[in-house]
Amino acid sequence: MNNTHRLAVLVSGSGTILEHMIDKKLPISYVIAEKPCRGIDLAIEHRLADNVDVARLRTKILPRVNYGWDNSRKWNNQPKFDRVSFSIDLANILNSYNVTIAAMAGFMTILSPEFFDIFEGTLLNIHPALLPKYKGERAVADALEAGERVTGTTIHIATKELDAGPIIKQAKVPVLPDDTVDTLHERIKQTERPLYTQVLAELLEGKRKLPSR
Ligand code: GRF
Repeated sequence: MNNTHRLAVLVSGSGTILEHMIDKKLPISYVIAEKPCRGIDLAIEHRLADNVDVARLRTKILPRVNYGWDNSRKWNNQPKFDRVSFSIDLANILNSYNVTIAAMAGFMTILSPEFFDIFEGTLLNIHPALLPKYKGERAVADALEAGERVTGTTIHIATKELDAGPIIKQAKVPVLPDDTVDTLHERIKQTERPLYTQVLAELLEGKRKLPSR
């Protein structure tokens, strides 16, 4: 493992991708979330359990409610959320930790363009669809409703335009006749967990180069 990269994983949900990364001993330096969530609990539990591989892992919550996020409103309906200040603060935190790769794994806050001007590393994302199809929060439901027989997942560089940055790796996942959004999403995540872990390990080991932005 070379020391040129320092990895932060950004989470906000169930954190099952992060859990797989921890189980596979991916050297994560930081887990950062925008609210208390299972992903943060998981990282803390592993550290407390004296798991040597995550002994140095640090956790940080940057609470988006402090920036006007209203939990009673829908995800994309946040008129009072100061997205710019949140994004600037997150970028500065990552820089202060010397993070070179920040990997969103179910991180559910869209970052403003200022983030990308400030953060000196590379932000990655994993999206549960075969981009450029089905961008946005409803990707799994949209693929299902469109009657797709195959969907999948995309690991890409995150840029100012949502779900549109250079693609690093994709994998296909079949849609089965009786699928619901939940069963299909879980099948996609079964592919995402090893795929994202592998891609990040290769980047950290210098075996894979990032595409240019
Ligand atoms: C994944 O499907 C990922 O593609 C999407 O959020 C989900 C995260 O799942 N961006 P989990 O929180 O790791 O279980």
